[in-house]
Amino acid sequence: MQVTGKVVVVTGGANGIGKALCEAFHRAGAAKVVVADMDAANARAVAATVDGAAFKCDVAQEKDISHVIEETERLFGPIALFCSNAGIGGGFDPMSVNAGGNSDEPWQRSWAIHVMAHVYAARHLIPRMKTRGGGYFLNTISAAGLLSQVGSPAYSTTKHAAVGFAENLAISHKAHNIRVSVLCPQGVDTNMLRSIPKGPQSGDGDLTPEQVAKDVLAGLDQETFLILPHPQVLGYMRKKTENYDRWIGGMAKIQAKMREEFGK
Ligand SMILES: NC(=O)c1ccc[n+]([C@@H]2O[C@H](COP(=O)([O-])OP(=O)(O)OC[C@H]3O[C@@H](n4cnc5c(N)ncnc54)[C@H](O)[C@@H]3O)[C@@H](O)[C@H]2O)c1
Repeated sequence: MQVTGKVVVVTGGANGIGKALCEAFHRAGAAKVVVADMDAANARAVAATVDGAAFKCDVAQEKDISHVIEETERLFGPIALFCSNAGIGGGFDPMSVNAGGNSDEPWQRSWAIHVMAHVYAARHLIPRMKTRGGGYFLNTISAAGLLSQVGSPAYSTTKHAAVGFAENLAISHKAHNIRVSVLCPQGVDTNMLRSIPKGPQSGDGDLTPEQVAKDVLAGLDQETFLILPHPQVLGYMRKKTENYDRWIGGMAKIQAKMREEFGK
């Protein structure tokens, strides 16, 4: 798809990757870029630079997502591309004392933001997209949703679930001309990455959000399910499926090294 002349929504568009996506869509000639974020001040600031609109929105709340969709369509017309991009780091424990953690809270928060937000977007947009003969979802997930991130069980698990939902979204609605892409980078230089110590997610180099946005435009143009700004991820996926046990062994070695470094 081309975003030229289209209405686009970006959740988590106030900062980082989402902000770069808003700017790239504007430069590519989108008719309206809608920035939906909990961070209302930065959402407004980004919207101002892209001649867009801003909504304060908590993607974990179904009513907030449905409000963004209804108001965007009422004010600007049909949403052609909905980008579920908002995400949180949270729960990084390099020592991995207990993969289950010690409370439900970080799990439930990650589940709500990384999975249910994508479900709500589909729930409220699929009927509209079906009626008008198509649409597009871009879900920012992570290489952690394909490969796991050492030290981050809640993040990795919910990002895997997000891949599972995106697969089902694509399978269920291909016949309705609804397309889905998942954006799965490794390290990207944003506040989220800066909030955790440097680790294996940066092993192939951190990209700028602007580079990632460029890769998104290319991926949307080709309508590929997987958008991998770090192409190495495809090789790692192949290695994982070729020999799962060897892959777990390799990841456990990375975990051991991390414990050694952080335990000093
Ligand atoms: N930075 C990385 O290295 C990296 C790598 C892979 C995937 N990702 C994913 O990219 C996405 C964007 O992250 P980023 O790196 O730009 O981080 P960021 O912290 O710079 O931006 C995240 C944005 O999401 C917003 N947000 C968080 N929770 C929200 C909620 N409940 N409702 C509405 N908005 C909310 C924040 O206010 C912020 O503007 C996330 O889904 C993240 O998991 C990031």
